[in-house]
Amino acid sequence: MSHGEAGVGKDGNSVSQAGVYNFATLNSGNIVADLENGSCRLVILISGRGSNMQTIVDTIEQDALPARVCAVVSNRADAAGLPWASERGIPTHVVPHRDYATRQEFDAALADTIDAYEPDYVVLAGFMRVLTPAFVERYEGRLLNIHPSLLPAFPGLHTHQQALDEGVQWHGCTVHFVTAKLDHGPVVAQGIVPVLGEDDAESLAARLLSVEHKLYAQVVRWLAEGRVSLDENHRVHVAGVATRAFLPDGTPAISGKELS
Ligand code: GRF
Repeated sequence: MSHGEAGVGKDGNSVSQAGVYNFATLNSGNIVADLENGSCRLVILISGRGSNMQTIVDTIEQDALPARVCAVVSNRADAAGLPWASERGIPTHVVPHRDYATRQEFDAALADTIDAYEPDYVVLAGFMRVLTPAFVERYEGRLLNIHPSLLPAFPGLHTHQQALDEGVQWHGCTVHFVTAKLDHGPVVAQGIVPVLGEDDAESLAARLLSVEHKLYAQVVRWLAEGRVSLDENHRVHVAGVATRAFLPDGTPAISGKELS
């Protein structure tokens, strides 16, 4: 089900080509999105509330970033983030996973919807479906996720309860490039929160969510500025940035902050 305009590519035409990857290879051998006309095209995938998606949209607008959320796509028609995005004039689509017999068929339909917008990056923001290796490979180096733990600790679901059960005193969130291994992949940035004695999973999740928003917003700033690249050893580089570790108030973990 589509809630928006048809796919419109960088050239303004309706497009549905697969495999149009806007990559440039730097002299160093690193790969980085080739931001045509200086504008970074994002497609955001959600399954529910969409508060991370909303923060990304608001950050792009408030900071006047050279970036655009071209579409928001959900596997669930009842995702609360969809009407929010529509009201902001962002095309929205639903690709219901239950309509497809296999993960491969669902992922192929999802990719068709995404590719119509020719995104530089596909941003998972509370998207609750496991993606096939073929899908992940298709968007290698362009597919980002936020996970509510300090990976590699606590992959999977119920991360806040996992943290409480382990008795860790610091919990956190990770923005990472997606690989075929679930909740694994090159780390772009991490943020932390303390675990308090009276916490339950809900209070810990709420404390972490505000850090998630600041972290994803910061990563989108870096993406929009074309600073992020991935080397052949699957390490992330962010040009001119002193640290990619963030404190509970969302500030960088060391002073000096940005080098340029
Ligand atoms: C976030 O905690 C995110 O880390 C996790 O699911 C939640 C989604 O929240 N993957 P929202 O939909 O962005 O509000």
